[in-house]
Amino acid sequence: MLNIALDGPSGSGKSTVAGILAKKLDILHLDTGAMYRACALEALKRNIDCLDEDAVKGFISDIDLVIKYENGGQKTILDGEDVSLKIRDNKVSLMSSNISSLPIVREKMVEMQRKVAAENPCILDGRDIGTVVLPHAKYKFFITATSEVRARRRFNELTEKGQQVDYEQLLQEMIKRDYNDSHRKIAPLKQADDAILIDTSNMTVSEVVEKILSIINEDA
Ligand code: DC
Repeated sequence: MLNIALDGPSGSGKSTVAGILAKKLDILHLDTGAMYRACALEALKRNIDCLDEDAVKGFISDIDLVIKYENGGQKTILDGEDVSLKIRDNKVSLMSSNISSLPIVREKMVEMQRKVAAENPCILDGRDIGTVVLPHAKYKFFITATSEVRARRRFNELTEKGQQVDYEQLLQEMIKRDYNDSHRKIAPLKQADDAILIDTSNMTVSEVVEKILSIINEDA
């Protein structure tokens, strides 16, 4: 089974790159961050603190979370509702970083992710795909960029959607989320020893895609 692991910090462009690669290679793309975001949204709906392990335990084992594919795109369905847009809300971003630090949440999500990867040729993007979820993936990439470049990308993305955001605030949130994601006890954001590192700070999306494709094709 062709499994590709693509990890990196928020704003590194990994979801965009993974989506394009999936289309070009005709394989499935699983954005695993969307799953943690959906968990955070569920906690928000229930008025639960994302770091309150006991409270999260109460709902996580039977969370009604389904990942569907429509016209090649991933749809995140929570309690029967399409929440693909809602989970992108800035408020959900920081909460998803908190909830993803809970072992009980990771166990459940990793199990779902491994099932998808066992049944489909696919590319998974996240933080721990190459290190924990799919340590035996055929290809592993770790893409990154400076925090300033990533905050600027996020700023442009949200402003294009008409949201009013402050660049400095986004940068601080990005730094805080990086810190949380890379310092948590289990499955921290980390480059796998055998992953190929790509710094995208001065690269366009298509340059990153071409670089990854050339590495995969070299092997074929
Ligand atoms: O990639 P993203 O920004 O949509 O991810 C949202 C949060 O989920 C992020 O703060 C870290 C967490 N996450 C994780 O811990 N492990 C993954 N495989 C994917 C995301």
